[in-house]
Amino acid sequence: MEPVTLSDGVVELAPPTPADVDAVTTLCQDPDIRRWTTVPSPYTRPDAEYFVGTMVGDGWEQGRECTWGIRTDGALVGMIGLSLRPPGSAEVGYWLGPQARGRGLLHRSLRLALGHAFAPDGLDLDRVEWRCFAGNWASWRAAWRVGFTFEATLRGGGVQRGRRVDEWAGTLLREDPREPRRPWPATSIPAPLPPTLPPTLPRTTPTPVAGPSA
Ligand SMILES: CC(C)(COP(=O)(O)OP(=O)(O)OC[C@H]1O[C@@H](n2cnc3c(N)ncnc32)[C@H](O)[C@@H]1OP(=O)(O)O)[C@@H](O)C(=O)NCCC(=O)NCCS
Repeated sequence: MEPVTLSDGVVELAPPTPADVDAVTTLCQDPDIRRWTTVPSPYTRPDAEYFVGTMVGDGWEQGRECTWGIRTDGALVGMIGLSLRPPGSAEVGYWLGPQARGRGLLHRSLRLALGHAFAPDGLDLDRVEWRCFAGNWASWRAAWRVGFTFEATLRGGGVQRGRRVDEWAGTLLREDPREPRRPWPATSIPAPLPPTLPPTLPRTTPTPVAGPSA
């Protein structure tokens, strides 16, 4: 598969290069990236060299994985990828460095990657799957915002550094609208409830704080 570069004028998605090794090393020191992804911990410069120099190139070359660095104003601020699950499916994954969060940059990147995923002259996929470790509301919010439907909690569905952990899973089909399928509820939920619970079920005392749920 030939590497592809995508841009919407604000973010550019391009495969990371050896010039990005230092930036990747620095960004992957972030505790939230360690907590919610499978990057090695502690994360060292050789980890970034292997990722950029071997994993990314092999993924494109073998048609298994499209990995893009997320750039804005010329700086690498995160990573987004599609792991292909033939036929016609892929799993999306992403992270942003802490300075880049809360600005809609992942939202833009996700739209670009999904556009390429479903385009007949792109990957021409039928569906994209999203998974995160259970409790990662920031990840679910990003997926929810572009139209993913929450499907399930997969007990022990993932493995992080040798330990089995629960996962949340959702899907986006080619024909789905790229906007939230359900409103984001205005009640706070102190501990994550199964996001598939109907919104009418009794919960804790409502507060004005926006809380996460499917
Ligand atoms: C998951 C993660 C990438 C989400 O990052 P994010 O900054 O929340 O996502 P976005 O860049 O799309 O920004 C969205 C936020 O920016 C705000 N925003 C500002 N301008 C915006 C714009 N023009 N368009 C969209 N959103 C905008 C939104 O309101 C939203 O904030 P809100 O959720 O409080 O409403 C980030 O939290 C992260 O990297 N976490 C650690 C690694 C991780 O968990 N990865 C996922 C593993 S499954």
